[in-house]
Amino acid sequence: MTAVLVVHGPNLNLLGTREPDIYGPTTLEEINARLARFAAACDIDLDCFQSNAEHELVERIQRSAQDGTDWILINPAGLTHTSVVLRDALAAAGRPFVEVHLSNPQARETFRHRSLISDLAAGTIAGFGADSYLLALQAVVNKTESPG
Ligand code: DQA
Repeated sequence: MTAVLVVHGPNLNLLGTREPDIYGPTTLEEINARLARFAAACDIDLDCFQSNAEHELVERIQRSAQDGTDWILINPAGLTHTSVVLRDALAAAGRPFVEVHLSNPQARETFRHRSLISDLAAGTIAGFGADSYLLALQAVVNKTESPG
């Protein structure tokens, strides 16, 4: 069984009410529930984690190196563009990961164009709203079924 950790960064707990014109109407609970349904159908062991605190995200990612996590899906939210420590945590954990965004940061303000984690990611899925997470999980299923 493949173990997948989903990490949601700051402000994503507000999904559903937060700038719905940009991030859509779906709540984080609904996104996690959709992921859980998809994971169950694909025999994936799923763990979802959200925090507004950078150090809690770092600590959860550090634990992933020891708790049997095979893959990480991560939407670092605003920390994508600023956090060297999150990048360092992902590099140290050594787990393959998919960078996920609801919006398409490349089509937004220039300060969102730079990601500090993209070059470490297996891939990035952005711009499909809540579906970005499901597409990322599908990518992990495909990768685990036929690596390479
Ligand atoms: C985001 C994009 C980021 O630029 C922003 O700060 C977020 C959410 C997204 O999912 O589209 O909080 O990561």
